[in-house]
Amino acid sequence: MATATFNVSSDKTRQAFHLTGERGWINDPNGLIYYGGKYHAFYQYHPYSTQWGPMHWGHAESKDLVKWKYLPIALYPDKEYDKDGCFSGTAITVGNRLYVMYTGVKADGGGRAAHQVQCLAYSDDGIHFFKHENNPVIKSEQIPDGYSPFDFRDPKVFEYNGSYYCMIASRKIGGGGRFLVYKSDDLVNWTFRKDLFGSDIPGGDMTECPDCSVKDNLMLCCMQFVNDGRLGNRNVHTALYATGKNITQDDFTPIDYGFDFYAPQTFSDGKDLYMIAWMQMWDRNIPSVKFGWAGGMTLPRKLEVKDGKLLQKPCDLSAYCGRTDDISRESIDGAVRLSGECYVLRLTADKAARFRLEMKKSENKCVSLELDPDRKELVFSRANSGEIIIGVEKDEDSLSFVRRMPLENDNVDITVIADRFSVEIFAEGKTLSATVCPPMGADGIELSGELKNFRLVKNELKSD
Ligand code: FRU
Repeated sequence: MATATFNVSSDKTRQAFHLTGERGWINDPNGLIYYGGKYHAFYQYHPYSTQWGPMHWGHAESKDLVKWKYLPIALYPDKEYDKDGCFSGTAITVGNRLYVMYTGVKADGGGRAAHQVQCLAYSDDGIHFFKHENNPVIKSEQIPDGYSPFDFRDPKVFEYNGSYYCMIASRKIGGGGRFLVYKSDDLVNWTFRKDLFGSDIPGGDMTECPDCSVKDNLMLCCMQFVNDGRLGNRNVHTALYATGKNITQDDFTPIDYGFDFYAPQTFSDGKDLYMIAWMQMWDRNIPSVKFGWAGGMTLPRKLEVKDGKLLQKPCDLSAYCGRTDDISRESIDGAVRLSGECYVLRLTADKAARFRLEMKKSENKCVSLELDPDRKELVFSRANSGEIIIGVEKDEDSLSFVRRMPLENDNVDITVIADRFSVEIFAEGKTLSATVCPPMGADGIELSGELKNFRLVKNELKSD
């Protein structure tokens, strides 16, 4: 009998606590759902190489959101209507049956344009999936006039007031990104209802991956080819959110301040609302390809919507916490030095004039996080962190390998989750997520600066 494989591993060439593919390439999380007493994560998957290719849906399940067991590939691009890829989508349960809706992609007779249609698959055991005989359940002919049949993807399916709704990223021909809403009583027969906002989502070329939690008045989406500095985190593709009962196309603002955060989806286990995103970015080099994998997920984050803001916290990692270092002092005398490769690090202080936290430090490399007191910003840099990761962004911060996150409060309360190839920073409910590729064994941690009544607690994360 084959033994199960899990993401949590002591292999130094892999992430230890973040979901990645078993091999090859992955992008967007898909169909995140709590089903049969377990969390299920599907993802855009090309198992045959570390490059994007015809998309499959990879699949993993977890009891605790940290350790994921790999399951067989859930969807292969093996039908006429999805032969060029099973693109992103979402999941819903009806009774004991798990349904996923995804985009089937079919290139046009060798041409570049690929028709995108919406398809349904179901499973009664959460492992084996069957594509519905009526696929595609939303065909090109059901797209209203004036919208592109080649940009029509990433269905978000949800139930509201006893009906099913499906929200699909689309593009007005000659215009920008929209969301088209369809309604159904049975998930199979869909009728077009409306263009959600009736006008383009401003700030970029095309929208992708809509998501929502109706209960929490929360909507997420992504913007491709951002052309508006207002959307602010400087990534050429960015993930956005809006809150409220009457969201408009102008309300979207970036979710994360880091380099690597895209295509987030929310899901609930009936108690808490969570979010997972692809912790990677299009149009960048990915150093981990030399280890046979590309792309991974953020740590699942617990969400709260408060005063119109989306607040994020890391999921519970306590079961994986080992040795603790706990240092508190009135002020830093010189520098505080610790070591570790995978850890949760929490820095609190009554007041910070300035500080610099170096992580994944070797003799001449480190990932750094500084407080810029004049601009009241945390400044994250991967400039000298190891292998260069560079994209197509041409602004000054990107060319200096820097990302910034504003801070509102005078007291400091920052949590860092470090894995082998990533650093995620949480402060004031905001996040900054970045991949890194430090030299093997770079495990130094060093804090310096002027901090009043500070405490630095490091919990080592154990992978075996
Ligand atoms: C977003 C995205 C989706 C699409 C998928 C293809 O990252 O471009 O719009 O469904 O990736 O892999």
